Amino acid sequence: MQAIVVDNIVMKYKVKKSVTDALKGISFAVEKGEIFGIIGPDGAGKTSLFRILTTLLLADSGNASVDGFDVIKDYKEIRNRVGYMPGKFSLYQDLTIQENLEFFASLFGTSIEENYDLVKEIYVQIEPFKTRRAGQLSGGMKQKLALCCALIHKPSVLFLDEPTTGVDAVSRKEFWEMLHRLKIQGITILVSTPYMDEAGLCDRVALMQKGTLLSVNTPKGIVGEFNKPLWAIKATEMFRLLNEVKADPSVESCYPFGQLHHVVFKSSSDGKEKLEQIAQKGIFKEVEISSIEPNIEDCFMALMKV
Ligand SMILES: Nc1ncnc2c1ncn2[C@@H]1O[C@H](COP(=O)(O)OP(=O)(O)OP(=O)(O)O)[C@@H](O)[C@H]1O
Ligand SMILES: [Mg+2]
Repeated sequence: MQAIVVDNIVMKYKVKKSVTDALKGISFAVEKGEIFGIIGPDGAGKTSLFRILTTLLLADSGNASVDGFDVIKDYKEIRNRVGYMPGKFSLYQDLTIQENLEFFASLFGTSIEENYDLVKEIYVQIEPFKTRRAGQLSGGMKQKLALCCALIHKPSVLFLDEPTTGVDAVSRKEFWEMLHRLKIQGITILVSTPYMDEAGLCDRVALMQKGTLLSVNTPKGIVGEFNKPLWAIKATEMFRLLNEVKADPSVESCYPFGQLHHVVFKSSSDGKEKLEQIAQKGIFKEVEISSIEPNIEDCFMALMKV
């Protein structure tokens, strides 16, 4: 069964005379028990989509359902069944960890004890600080508390809007491990992130840009869609090299990637020789060129045409 169905959703913000097309007719479906990632830069429309699916915002047209319930007709059912962790920290800063969790449990007519099993693993990590006010927690701890609060009523679908933004690398890793344990318990997870490296941790991902979905596939499937040779180049003056390669008319895209620049040519017949020519013309030193396999970030860069 499909846990989330989004069918041609259109949503515009009208502020005075200006209109922003936040969602331009997007469609996809998430299977029960899937971890589905929405990967997109600032302003892609991620939060608007999450707010529509959690019944907090009305779309202009299109249909959507969560757990088989319509987001408009059955909004009450949906509110009882979903957990939502909004992008901006939404907990009560003046309440302690324990008070926040008790408050969210009571909103849904349950108690911490009743669903303790579900949050236990996460809660034990913040329990030593349970009398500390939420406003005084570190980013990683706030994130854990927000996840506990989103889980305390045992939701069947969890909506996590940029849960790892601004969180350190270790907490990010721990957070994804927690999501995989929740998935094993049968919870469906829709998670958004601006970090492309998190795409590989999802069962399937949708790449979103300016209100449209550019691709929906498994991480492997997205890599399989990349159909041009990919080259890597390195030399002493990396910044100047980037500009020189980019400026060559044969080059489709060139972007920094770790210690290297990744390069895609407009024509597949161009490659190593062409890069050597560009490097020679610019008198670059210690030039290293290699043919490489694309990773998911290369695929996104190609789809986003940067
Ligand atoms: N309340 C609002 N009023 C007017 N325009 C809005 C409003 N909220 C969002 N927008 C615009 O709609 C578009 C989509 O925004 P949205 O917040 O859904 O994107 P996002 O992917 O969540 O971005 P971010 O990474 O910044 O959180 C953007 O162009 C944004 O400026
Ligand atoms: Mg957002």
